Amino acid sequence: SRTVHRGEDGVVTVGGMEVTRLAEEFGTPAYFLDEADFRARCRAWADAFGPDADVFYAGKAFLSRAVVRWLTEEGLNLDVCSGGELATALDAGMPAERIAFHGNNKSQEEIERAVSAGVGRIVLDSFQEIVRVAHVAQAQGRRQRVQIRVTVGVEAHTHEFIATAHEDQKFGIGLADGQAAEAVRRALKLDGLELIGIHSHIGSQIFDMAGFEVSARRVVQLLAQVRDEHGVELPEIDLGGGLGIAYTSEDDPKEPHDIAKALREIVARECEAAKLRTPRISVEPGRAIVGPSAFTLYRVGTIKPLHGLRTYVSVDGGMSDNIRTALYDAEYSVALVSRRSDAAPVLSRVVGKHCESGDIVVKDAFLPADVAPGDLLAVPATGAYCRSMASNYNHALRPPVVAVKNGRARVIVRRETEEDLLRLDVG
Ligand code: LLP
Repeated sequence: SRTVHRGEDGVVTVGGMEVTRLAEEFGTPAYFLDEADFRARCRAWADAFGPDADVFYAGKAFLSRAVVRWLTEEGLNLDVCSGGELATALDAGMPAERIAFHGNNKSQEEIERAVSAGVGRIVLDSFQEIVRVAHVAQAQGRRQRVQIRVTVGVEAHTHEFIATAHEDQKFGIGLADGQAAEAVRRALKLDGLELIGIHSHIGSQIFDMAGFEVSARRVVQLLAQVRDEHGVELPEIDLGGGLGIAYTSEDDPKEPHDIAKALREIVARECEAAKLRTPRISVEPGRAIVGPSAFTLYRVGTIKPLHGLRTYVSVDGGMSDNIRTALYDAEYSVALVSRRSDAAPVLSRVVGKHCESGDIVVKDAFLPADVAPGDLLAVPATGAYCRSMASNYNHALRPPVVAVKNGRARVIVRRETEEDLLRLDVG
C-alpha cells in the first residue's frame, strides 16, 4: 500500500509528491505521513480481527486530530493514556464509547473526565484505582465499564525499557501471587464498576508470538479461576499492543491477518481446555499501524569523515525529533532521497545538531561517499514514538507532521515557532 517511488533522477516521491518539493514547501526536519498507507493499515487490522473483536489504536504512538478522524472513519477504537490524549480524541469527534483509558497513575481529574465523557472502558492498574474509579462513577451515578490490567510474568524479548509484563516493573497487578484474583474480587463487589475483562500488555516491538501465547494462557486461567470462584465468565480479554515493525531490512514483521489468526487460535485452545466460552478479544497496536506510515526528512548540514572510522553526517534535527536511538539503541535505516548517486557507499553515522554525543539518529548506515551539505536524507518508519516523544531540548522547535495523499500535502501538526517557546516562558 505504500506509495513511495524513486524516479530516474533519484528523487523519491511519496504520496505523489517529490521530497525535494516537500522540503521546499514545509522545511526540514519534518515528518511526512502517508495517509493512504495509514488508513490501509487501519483497515488491515480491522479486517484481520473482524466484527467479533476490537482493535484499539494506541494513541501514544502518535495522536493528532486528523489521526483521530481517520481512525473514527476506519472503524477503529482508541487507547488513550492521559488527559491530553483523551482531550484530543474527544475534540476530534471519536465517540467516547470507543475510547479505552489507560495509565498507572491516572489523576482524580483524569478519572472524572473519562467517566463523565462516558469512555468505553477504563483499564484499572492498581488497587487504589479500583476504589477511585468506583467512587467517581458512583458519584456521577454511573456504572463504569472496566478491565483489570494484570502482569502475567512474561519476559518479552525486547529492550528492557519497553518490556512491561515481567514482575519487577510498575504496570499492572501481579497474577502469580494472587493479587490479580484479589483485584477481581474487589472490583466485582463495587457497584460503580462493571468488570468486563482482563487486560495484559507484554511489551513493544515484539516479533515472536510465544510471549502472547503465555500471556493469553495465563489470562484465560484467571478467567477460569474467576468463573470457579464467582460464577461469572468475564466477556472480554485485551492482549495489548506491541507488535513489531520493520525498522531495517533485518526485521521480519508478521501481517495483521497472521497475528489475528494466531491470537484467536491460542485463546480458543486455552478456553476449550478451561471449558470457558471464548471471550471477545481486543488488541492495541500503535507502532504497527502508524510506524511504517511516516518518514522523517532531514537536510544535511555538515560532514566529517573520520578516516578509518566512519563519516559523521549531521542533519538539521536529531534526538529532539527521534529519541529512540539514544533511548533504546533503536535501529533505523536512512537513504539519500534528493538525487541519484553512484558513489561508493561508506560507513556513516547520521547525527543531529544537539549538544550531546549520544545525539544519534542512525547509528550505522552506508551512505554514498559524495553525500554533501544540502542533500536530503529520509529515515523511514518514524511514524511511531518520534513526534509523540519529541522534545524541545536545546530549545529545538518540534517539526511539523505533514499528511501526504494523492499528490497533495497538508500540515496536520504545524512546526513549532520560537514564539510558541517564548509563550510558555512567563518569567
Ligand atoms: N497498549 C499499552 C497498554 C501500551 O502500554 C502500549 C505501549 C501499547 C498498547 C502500544 O504498543 P505498540 O503496539 O505501539 O508497541 N516509546 C516506546 C514504546 C513504549 C510503548 C509503551 N506502551 C518506543 O518508542 O518504542
